[in-house]
Amino acid sequence: LETGCLSVVVLGASGDLAKKKTFPALFNLFRQGFLQSNEVHIFGYARTKMSDDDLRERIHGYLSHGKGDEEMESLTNFLQLIKYVSGSYDSEDGFRLLDKEISEHELVRKSHPGTSRRLFYLALPPSVYPSVCKMIRSYCMNQSDLSGWTRIVVEKPFGKDLASSEELSSQLAELFNEEQLYRIDHYLGKELVQNLLVLRFANRFFVPLWNRDNIDNVQIVFREDFGTEGRGGYFDEYGIIRDIIQNHLLQVFCLVAMEKPVSLKPEHIRDEKVKVLQSVMPIAPEEVVLGQYDGYRDDPTVPDGSSTPTFATVVLRIHNERWEGVPFILKAGKALNSRKAEVRVQFKDVPGDIFRSKKHGRNEFVIRLQPSEAMYMKLTVKKPGLQMSTILSELDLSYGQRYQDVKIPEAYERLILDTIRGDQQHFVRRDELRAAWEIFTPLLHKIDNGELPPISYKPGSRGPAEADELLARAGYVQTHGY
Ligand code: BG6
Repeated sequence: LETGCLSVVVLGASGDLAKKKTFPALFNLFRQGFLQSNEVHIFGYARTKMSDDDLRERIHGYLSHGKGDEEMESLTNFLQLIKYVSGSYDSEDGFRLLDKEISEHELVRKSHPGTSRRLFYLALPPSVYPSVCKMIRSYCMNQSDLSGWTRIVVEKPFGKDLASSEELSSQLAELFNEEQLYRIDHYLGKELVQNLLVLRFANRFFVPLWNRDNIDNVQIVFREDFGTEGRGGYFDEYGIIRDIIQNHLLQVFCLVAMEKPVSLKPEHIRDEKVKVLQSVMPIAPEEVVLGQYDGYRDDPTVPDGSSTPTFATVVLRIHNERWEGVPFILKAGKALNSRKAEVRVQFKDVPGDIFRSKKHGRNEFVIRLQPSEAMYMKLTVKKPGLQMSTILSELDLSYGQRYQDVKIPEAYERLILDTIRGDQQHFVRRDELRAAWEIFTPLLHKIDNGELPPISYKPGSRGPAEADELLARAGYVQTHGY
């Protein structure tokens, strides 16, 4: 890490995202020594009028720590680094004051040689991004004689469709260049998502098999066993495709399907992601199943008669040499029977199978992103014993068992550290975002026009049965008996 003064500004400091994700991630980085007391200062900015101590009090309960003296001391030291500035998101005075505070901190620390680094984390709704960014650009850029950088972290939703997303991108591009903008998709900070490229390109097992000759279908699945819980108002405007599939699952899709990048440089990786996104064919309406769980509309913030989907299964088809004919089934749902995110790669049947093992199912390679990170391969083996029969068994690498001593970092922790380091590999580039919206916008417009009403499903179920039928039509074979 570079040394020198680092100011982390959390805008929207009193909101949910800041409390639950941003501050805890900063605290974890601090505890592990990635943020140093003599360099870093953290500023919270929001409309609420309150003191530094009020903010510290509010976030305190979200910072997990041990009971030992050392832990308590590091918590106190961390909280002491936090200052609060109140102002609205379009107030010149507010941002001038913020700049004054940051500059004072930089002056105090000037004896510490190095650069001045300013990181603005927008834990805010996107509707205020343009005005906040304008204010930062006008009043909070580093004007001292110290060299350094200004970086802006933003999080989805980046618009509601291609046109609105492009408009937002253009507004931000007038103020900051692409190297200063960090579009977070927290799935890219998950351990097993970061592992995908390693698995694919560092293992001779997979390199020759990863194509249409061997793979029958791929599923990328996200399930939650709770509903929209207090977020109904936000969710209803977006729906499951914009909330999960167009960003989180599509990012995973890119890493599973893209070609090998020239190197690990962020630009090389992102170039390949863009290419695979551009090779996705228009989504066929008959390869989409939408659902809404019973009770979703009971939330007072959800309009009566809302037809926003809380569940979707969508088949993507890639038009290129590697993947022609292989369905990529993206599935996400709220209020289902379990909480799980996984990639399931199903291989084709063995030709001329003399064991007739097909009845047990096919070879599968499963990467479980959460909970309990794991990857396992389903394979046919001889059933132990006197008989010559076969069963489907597993080669299993469960992280909890294999890496007992390693604490897997939170996605936000890793991504904030990347931002400080200036590594954009795990952030979404503007052209990538555009390509993602190009895939989903026609479908989203159809849904918004009421052309594809959702099928209702029971909370705690697998979702609409029609989704399983679509899976079967796409060629997925349920595996049994391991
Ligand atoms: C967020 C969505 O981006 O991701 C939420 O807005 C969802 O609806 C969450 O619950 C899931 O994240 P994770 O890391 O718990 O899988």
